[in-house]
Amino acid sequence: MSGLLTLRGASRAELEELLDFAQSFVGGSVIHRGGAGGTVTTVFFEPSTRTRLSFEKAAHHLGAHVMSFDAPKSSTAKDESFRDTILTLTAMGTDVFVIRHWLADAAELTAAWSGRPVVNAGVGKREHPTQTLTDALTLRQRFGHLDGLRVAIVGDVGNSRVARGHLAALPTLGVELTLVGPTPFFPAVDPWGVRKSTDLDSELGDMDVIYLLRIQKERGSSAGIPSERGYARRYGMNEERLSMLKPTSVIMHPGPINRGLEIDGVVAEGERSLILEQVANGVPVRMAVLSLALGERR
Ligand code: CP
Repeated sequence: MSGLLTLRGASRAELEELLDFAQSFVGGSVIHRGGAGGTVTTVFFEPSTRTRLSFEKAAHHLGAHVMSFDAPKSSTAKDESFRDTILTLTAMGTDVFVIRHWLADAAELTAAWSGRPVVNAGVGKREHPTQTLTDALTLRQRFGHLDGLRVAIVGDVGNSRVARGHLAALPTLGVELTLVGPTPFFPAVDPWGVRKSTDLDSELGDMDVIYLLRIQKERGSSAGIPSERGYARRYGMNEERLSMLKPTSVIMHPGPINRGLEIDGVVAEGERSLILEQVANGVPVRMAVLSLALGERR
């Protein structure tokens, strides 16, 4: 594996092996401390709390050094180019790059310029592969399996890297995906060919997982809906909708959440919510991914 750019094309056996490896780090990070060494550089040109900090914590647990590049506080503000930034960070001794960027090919460019393994932490309108692995691990822990689970992904699929990652990998693991939302949220040309629905209420009783996506106001999600109140009324997860689920069904969201829009606070913090388990699993998943990437360093 040369870093992790995409989950598309990964076999079921490869994905399961990666999840097993991640599971081996759950609650046992101390025994892996000091194992990998090297330097991990996180390069974030867009905001992040969970992804960035969990990669950095994972690197620390592996005994790696962390360099943390924060675009707004860097020489990017003095017009330093993306290429020169990557060349500079490579010269400082980066072994593995973790990158989030608005450019779709930012991860490939970083790999080409640096010659180092690169982990995609969310680029352009592509995948967010470590979020997908985190969510798959969380589901496997809860249900004991992924095969046959029915998951409704609700919201702005067209703008979502998380949804793209899930579409790339979860069906391979046996998950049945349904996309739910208003029609403008689905891409005009659908490359996925999975089931779609505009009526959340009619789906609730059949689903094992309601996976809510954030309304990405900064990427124009709001243009696809008549009003935030109208969206919350039709697609927001609230207590009434919670009562329409099977007793075993759970709620997930990659975060950050818009309380009162795609999810009510009482649902997010309720006993059906796996949101904070997803966050916690971000660390062992990123330990697994970084451990493999650091293993490739020259
Ligand atoms: N889920 C996710 O990517 O969250 P952050 O933007 O906080 O990293």
